[in-house]
Formats: sequence, structure tokens, C-alpha cells
Amino acid sequence: MKIHQKLISHLALCLTFLMSMLTACTSSPPNSTSSPASNVDSASTAATGESKILIAYFTAAENSGEGVDAVTTASYSTINGKAIGRLRAIADMIAEGTGGETFSLQTSVVYPQDIGELIDYAAQEQSEDARPELVSRIENPEDYDVIFVGYPNWWADLPQVLYTFFDEYDFSGKTIIPFNVHNGSGLSRTVQTIQELEPDAAVVEDAFTINEHNMNEAAGEVAAWLDGLDY
Ligand SMILES: Cc1cc2nc3c(=O)[nH]c(=O)nc-3n(C[C@H](O)[C@H](O)[C@H](O)COP(=O)(O)O)c2cc1C
Repeated sequence: MKIHQKLISHLALCLTFLMSMLTACTSSPPNSTSSPASNVDSASTAATGESKILIAYFTAAENSGEGVDAVTTASYSTINGKAIGRLRAIADMIAEGTGGETFSLQTSVVYPQDIGELIDYAAQEQSEDARPELVSRIENPEDYDVIFVGYPNWWADLPQVLYTFFDEYDFSGKTIIPFNVHNGSGLSRTVQTIQELEPDAAVVEDAFTINEHNMNEAAGEVAAWLDGLDY
């Protein structure tokens, strides 16, 4: 009889232990950070005004040294009568639509103003897998939940300075929304590359892309795209 009672109480203890293990395994700890369920969901959260938005961009026009001739240099575009780097123009449109702050990626490299020389220089950087030094800094990166990241397509890839950028900043748990200007290649594989470089960020696949020859249609296209992302 006594042995029977002992066996039953032992079995009850085992059962309690198993139950508590099961509960522990199926529920998350109170402050665990789970990846956002879907990219669009986190972008929508941003649209409710709870999130702080940064619009980081790289344009050759703001990395080609002083005295750039905006009329003859290929990295400028004329939008609403203003000579401006294309990625800067798109960044400004996104800022207008979202209320976010813009941030220009600036390097210590002075990129050639001559388009032929720039093409060769960028090819060399890419073949060396270079990390051009970033000299501009985001003051409080932890403050931002959503980071729009804009870049030109360079040799069917991100400009190498974007690799420096993603090396230097850890955007885990944040939403990254890419935007790009190109002259035929679109985004190439850049969105997947960003996801690989920031594995714990939610990288929105519905990135914005526009051909440099269609810049005069950009304002409407950016507005429609932001609308689709619920901004
Ligand atoms: C070095 C370099 C490489 C480029 N490679 C590509 C390319 O592979 N595919 C493409 O579609 N456009 C390419 N382009 C065109 C740029 O993506 C396009 O001109 C873009 O508008 C540049 O943006 P920005 O003027 O704001 O710097 C290249 C331009 C440069 C300067």
C-alpha cells in the first residue's frame, strides 16, 4: 500500500515537471524580441506614427568633392528646376511623405566627377571588395525603428560604401525599406543582399526602384509606393 502511494506521488511529480517544461517551451520570456511577423506589418506600425523614421541615402553627387559642376556632371538630375543628386531627390520625397529625417552617407573618398572615371573607380572598389570609410554618423541609431536606405545600382550591386554602412550599424529588430535608382538593371539582387547583411532586420521586399531617365515621374511614383506601404 505504502509502495503504491509512493509510486503515485512520484508519477504526479513527474507529470507536474513535464507540464511546467511544456509551458516553458511554448511561451516566450516576457522581454524576448521576436522577429516581426511580416515586413508589411512592421512598416504599417511605423505608419501609425509610433515609429521614428530615418531616410539614409548615398548619392555620388554628395561625394564628389567641392565645386561639382551640377550641369555637366552625370550624377545630378534637374528636378523642379533644382540640380540635385538623384538619390537625394528620392530621399527628400520620402521625407515629405513620411515626416522622416534624411541622412547622407558621406565617405572620405572623393569620387571622380567624370562619369567614365567613376565607372572604372567603382569597378575597382567592387573587385577589391573595398569598405570606403564613412565619415558621416547617425547620432542615435537606436532611436529609429524604420530605416529607408537609398542607393544607386553600381555594377549590378550596392555601392561598396553600403557594405561599410551595414558593417557599422546593427539594425536587428528594425525595419529596412530599400529604394534605388538605376539605368536599366533595377534593384539587381540588392534587397536579398541587404537581408543577408542584416539578418535580424525585416527588409521590405517591395522596394522602390526607378530608372534615372524617369526622374520627372518620381514624385508620383514615390507617393503611390508609400501609399502601398500605408504611409
Ligand atoms: C559607377 C557606376 C556604376 C553603375 N552601374 C549600373 C548598373 O550596373 N546598372 C544600372 O542599371 N545602372 C548603373 N549605373 C547607373 C546609376 O545607377 C544611376 O545613374 C543612378 O541614378 C545614380 O544615382 P546618383 O546619381 O544619385 O548617384 C551606374 C552608375 C555608376 C556611376
